[in-house]
Amino acid sequence: MHWAVGVAALLGMGGQYRRKCTMGQVRIRTVLDRTQHRTIQQQGCQSMHVLVTGGGGYIGSVATERLIERGYHVTVLDNFERGHREAVHPGAVVETCDLRCTDAVTDIVRASGADAVMHFAALTLVPESVEQPGPYFATNTAGGLNLLRAAADAGITRFVFSSTAAVYGEPAELPILEDTTKSPINPYGASKWMTEQMLDSFSHRYSINHAIFRYFNVAGATHDRGEDHDPETHLIPVALQTLLGKRDHFTMFGTDYDTPDGTAIRDYVHVVDLVDAHITALERLDQPLGAMNLGTASGYSVKEIVDAVARVTGKDLPIRIGPRRSGDPAALVADSSRARELLGWTPRRSTLDDMIGSAWDWYQRHPNGYST
Ligand SMILES: NC(=O)c1ccc[n+]([C@@H]2O[C@H](COP(=O)([O-])OP(=O)(O)OC[C@H]3O[C@@H](n4cnc5c(N)ncnc54)[C@H](O)[C@@H]3O)[C@@H](O)[C@H]2O)c1
Repeated sequence: MHWAVGVAALLGMGGQYRRKCTMGQVRIRTVLDRTQHRTIQQQGCQSMHVLVTGGGGYIGSVATERLIERGYHVTVLDNFERGHREAVHPGAVVETCDLRCTDAVTDIVRASGADAVMHFAALTLVPESVEQPGPYFATNTAGGLNLLRAAADAGITRFVFSSTAAVYGEPAELPILEDTTKSPINPYGASKWMTEQMLDSFSHRYSINHAIFRYFNVAGATHDRGEDHDPETHLIPVALQTLLGKRDHFTMFGTDYDTPDGTAIRDYVHVVDLVDAHITALERLDQPLGAMNLGTASGYSVKEIVDAVARVTGKDLPIRIGPRRSGDPAALVADSSRARELLGWTPRRSTLDDMIGSAWDWYQRHPNGYST
């Protein structure tokens, strides 16, 4: 979509695009395995209905899986442009819909009967957002506005939003606290920060209790669901794809940082630990929770990850050393005390061995991602 259309939608002038959405959109509603829902209900589990946007993506598909396993009803809203229909748990109702389609989003949210929203859908590639900011603001910000309006219209009072460490930009102090200055340095981070601010305003006006999670780096897999992005830019899957012969070599960008081993340090959380924080928040959203970082406060260096990949897989990674990439700080780690205090959150699976091991198991079963 052209950027001007996104801005027009954001300003409430998206008539032309809305018409196109209404006419051209393929909206497919799939209800699979209702019996399974009933069985779970009979077992006396949760009966809350959660609308999961981006449920065909990496984190949203794991959230859908974990919610259904715990007895929640789930409706997934996704256009599957960057996700996978096959990644959606068969117990979910699927609405194939683009978040930019104002009217369709309003209809779906109202008709779903959802009590709560978990909003994962987004465009997420930083370099792409610099090249093409329009689609990023159209999907992440205007799409977020469509969803918020629809949630308010439907009387939804619980809203969990996936945000990102990119809202902080390049912070002067570590570890990063939630009240660290928000100074995004790319359109991706800016589009997410704008959505956080809209959520805050809607929460006050429409009594929507919200939790915002700012993720740093997410890794790992469940038995059935893993990371399948195209292009893949995240370090652990890139290393594992190299071992699978999908790439010639793995490049370490910068070995002269002011860190103990000279490589950059980032904060990683296992996708299951991350999703479980969302589900706990959902259950506690009878009151507003606000923004929380999700990280481990310690972080791992690129070299530590590369060594762990070799140890866990028993294979040598062909490595090249490259220059630092611009905009890559030496270290980014999160202070997550707020999530630990408010939710009693303790990451249990966020060790390198578990994150790499679970992802490696999934890739070995799916060497070409969800297409295998
Ligand atoms: N993966 C990470 O390490 C990480 C880090 C920080 C923040 N996040 C945030 O977490 C969320 C999920 O990330 P992910 O890695 O699972 O992303 P993903 O790309 O795997 O999934 C995003 C999903 O959103 C869907 N989507 C995109 N545009 C849409 C639109 N216009 N309408 C409807 N659906 C649309 C895609 O089809 C896809 O299924 C994102 O909001 C992202 O900003 C992720």
